[in-house]
Amino acid sequence: MKLWGGRFEEGSSALLERFNASITFDKKLYRYDILGSLAHAKMLHSIKILNDKEYADICHGLQEIESEISNGEFTFNISDEDIHMAIESALTQKIGQAGKKLHTARSRNDQVALDFRMYVLDSNYNIRQQILELIEVIITLAKSHTKTLMPGMTHLQHAQPINFGFHLVAWCCALKRDIERLESSFVRNNFMPLGSGALAGTPYETDREMIARELGFKAPTLNAMDSVSDRDFALDVLYDLAMLGMHISRIAEELVLWSSYEFKFITISDKYATGSSIMPQKKNPDVPELVRGKSGRLYGNLISLLVVMKSLPLAYNKDTQEDKEPVFDSVENITISLEILKETLKTLTINKDNMLKACKIGHLSATDLADFLVKTSNIPFRQAHHITGKIVAYAESKHCDISDLSEDEIIGLDPTIKSGIKEVLDIAHSMESRKSLGGTSSTQTMQQICTLETWLQSTKDTIPNTKPTYTQHISTSNNPSK
Ligand code: ARG
Repeated sequence: MKLWGGRFEEGSSALLERFNASITFDKKLYRYDILGSLAHAKMLHSIKILNDKEYADICHGLQEIESEISNGEFTFNISDEDIHMAIESALTQKIGQAGKKLHTARSRNDQVALDFRMYVLDSNYNIRQQILELIEVIITLAKSHTKTLMPGMTHLQHAQPINFGFHLVAWCCALKRDIERLESSFVRNNFMPLGSGALAGTPYETDREMIARELGFKAPTLNAMDSVSDRDFALDVLYDLAMLGMHISRIAEELVLWSSYEFKFITISDKYATGSSIMPQKKNPDVPELVRGKSGRLYGNLISLLVVMKSLPLAYNKDTQEDKEPVFDSVENITISLEILKETLKTLTINKDNMLKACKIGHLSATDLADFLVKTSNIPFRQAHHITGKIVAYAESKHCDISDLSEDEIIGLDPTIKSGIKEVLDIAHSMESRKSLGGTSSTQTMQQICTLETWLQSTKDTIPNTKPTYTQHISTSNNPSK
């Protein structure tokens, strides 16, 4: 007999059971479901719906179920439909009548809204921690490369010389925003939906504030109907992870490019590279390629839930059951991607010499010649640009870089160019001359690193304040049941 089977004369078809059930995937929520139930029971006890014995039995039973599930001793049945009913029926089997009282003043609609929100907020916190660790690794690398010259690119063409540390700081800036974005999603969604009932609240004198406090939410949600129909909290995180996935796909793409024979700027450690089954000489960058490829599913998951939610009438609809798998998928894939990206970066070899060699291709200091003309000969930039173009064409005809021309050669080509130009065309000089705020000079890069370090430290100090307190009771990972 189903928990909801009172009005039914016939049993469900096996096909219905298979189609309707979410237990195969929502069992992952078991710890949140049990924590939510423990808080709910405590509240029911405080308002005297449960007596002391019933409350004690419920707590004990739920704790037993939790350890059975985590030890793999619990049998999940498709006929239980979802994790909420699986736990409730196991509890009733264990403790009898008292188990049947647990569902007083709640519905599966607010129960699932609570469990899923707890999972989402917990994952949000864990992912922010992981990004912090990744940023820390990148900053450490950046600090030792503020004088390592490399070609900065636009259109993937050599543009102006930069230092490698500066490039790494650019990565960190994007990742910092990813943390801030997740943090704002966390703050916006840190409200507790339980007690909303099916859609309209309940006729009991419940204390939703107490449950919110008990679980560590900021406050209960405002409106029962919104609480059971809203899935923005999940969409927020899917968007945040899609954006984060996009950022790390760009980092990954650069690792793929830089590890190619054409660049050879970096060597990926053997630990994080793979071979080919047919070409014995190959060393493939599978790790960054996969990190890059994951953005596909991260975007897909966001779109998938957006479409599920579109046009749904209020309040709860079963369509919403389709919300969990995309979120689980995004969380799991971003988690492993961040972890392996961090390890890959930690073990990376930087080939400074090849970066420097590449700086000698493509006339990286051409803009410096134009700027020198503007400063020393008082001619408009556009005209200086034109004169520089002529010098570049000359260097091309000699198959050399503009920085390799002698001062006499340059001045011979255009007498407006004053002496002192040779030094200006030097690649290191060019990089160091970009001292404008936010520029690439090593002092500016160092300043950016300092700012990031200050932010990193204060974020590390304050992030525990946003750790959902219920996670203290969740000892292992955030995806408890595989
Ligand atoms: N398994 C359901 C879900 O994930 C739980 C809520 C079911 N509520 C209901 N009235 N059928 O959405």
